[in-house]
Amino acid sequence: MSRKFPDNFMWGGAIAANQVEGAWNVDGKGLSVADMATYKPNVDNQDYAKHVNITSEFIDKARKDTSDKDYPKRRGIDFYHHYKEDLALFAEMGFKTLRLSIAWSRIFPTGEESEPNELGLQFYENVFKEMKRLNIEPIVTLSHYEMPLTLSNKYNGWVSRTVIDDFVRFSTACFNRYKDYVKYWLTFNEIDSIHRHPFTTAGIVNDKLTPGKEKQEIYQALHHQFVASAIVTKLCHEIIQGSQVGCMITKLTTYPLTPKPEDVEATLKKNLENYFYSDVQVFGEYPKLILSQLERQGIHIQMTEEELKVLKEHTVDFISFSYYMSMTESVDPDADRTPGNTIVGVKNPYLPATEWGWQIDPKGLKISLIELYDRYKKPLMIVENGMGAKDVVEDGQIHDPYRIKYFQEHFEQMWEAIEEGVDLFGYTSWGPIDLVSASTSQMSKRYGFIYVDQDDEGNGSLERMRKDSFYWYKGVIENNAID
Ligand code: BG6
Repeated sequence: MSRKFPDNFMWGGAIAANQVEGAWNVDGKGLSVADMATYKPNVDNQDYAKHVNITSEFIDKARKDTSDKDYPKRRGIDFYHHYKEDLALFAEMGFKTLRLSIAWSRIFPTGEESEPNELGLQFYENVFKEMKRLNIEPIVTLSHYEMPLTLSNKYNGWVSRTVIDDFVRFSTACFNRYKDYVKYWLTFNEIDSIHRHPFTTAGIVNDKLTPGKEKQEIYQALHHQFVASAIVTKLCHEIIQGSQVGCMITKLTTYPLTPKPEDVEATLKKNLENYFYSDVQVFGEYPKLILSQLERQGIHIQMTEEELKVLKEHTVDFISFSYYMSMTESVDPDADRTPGNTIVGVKNPYLPATEWGWQIDPKGLKISLIELYDRYKKPLMIVENGMGAKDVVEDGQIHDPYRIKYFQEHFEQMWEAIEEGVDLFGYTSWGPIDLVSASTSQMSKRYGFIYVDQDDEGNGSLERMRKDSFYWYKGVIENNAID
């Protein structure tokens, strides 16, 4: 049976500047927090916080290092010089859309200049022009894990209110320059991730937080991001007629391990926490239960009347999210645990997992879609989904049935959710072309339909090759249906 998707369904893929572009120090680009990320082949996410707890001492050393040897995100897959070839491959697969991000430090190298860097602006204009020629609609993330390092060093990133103005200046420059090319915008990638990796998400270095006030300052930084997001949503609507702005969260759907009420309660807490971020951006106010929980922990976010007004008046038009896996929760301290996307949770005995331990749960995607739509009643877009796997090249071919299976099963659940009434208008798989992993900086953790000849140490010709899944996804898009 062929299962059709709605007409004009936006099929495509998603990438982030710091994981693909490379060219970390050319054409005036400034250092970003992503340029400090080292190769961590052994990160198993069991103790994710330890791995991302970057110190000021390390940053001082890394910023003086002018090589990309230990810093794979500095080289990416050289999309900066290969973008035409890569976009042509996406077009060959029939992409209707491509989600990509703009590296803030290409446009404002330190984040504090009053005028943007023309060469940086030009690069993205060239990319958008090419996308227009190929009929690929851009969805642009303004902040995807790469704020200028200077803002991190000077202000401890988003902890300072000053950064709101810098972000607004950057976003305004983007809206003005790209208004003829880009209609869909996302403000912050996985805004909820600030607690899991504060440096990557918000330029926050833990040893610069005030002792005893760490949590308070991180929540304050998050508040600044919420406010900045609302301000730029307003500006985007004003500058670009008919523009659509979305929030973007990590959908970490959690099930109780057992029907024991204590497990159900612990699960409820987890899920409410996961909804907190989109609640603020969709409803325009902080959920009462979260505020009460923060109060009980002695956390008081400073919010002005004016900020509360902007949050209320400039909510998002749609909700976008990443979905890779689901988690389970239990109050039993001895329950088996497993890593997921920057988290560690309780293992679900019914689910298989990837080599990195992320539990594969297509049904969880349908559950997430139904829950999100029921809660918000706004259009949804899945802007990241996929599985990291080690691919093998045999006689110039890459057979990846595991990837096809993963996508096929997730698409079936998307189709079911749409059939049941969910307004899902698009889907971009994560890393349609192999790229550098966000958490481990590995190249060998591959997500793509397109293979890139480069290993973890940066050796390789950078040649692009079509995997079996390339032809499979092309078929899905062509038919706008799954078998
Ligand atoms: C998402 C991020 O959380 O997960 C991406 O937005 C990231 O940037 C993706 O690449 C997959 O994670 P990883 O660690 O496998 O690259």
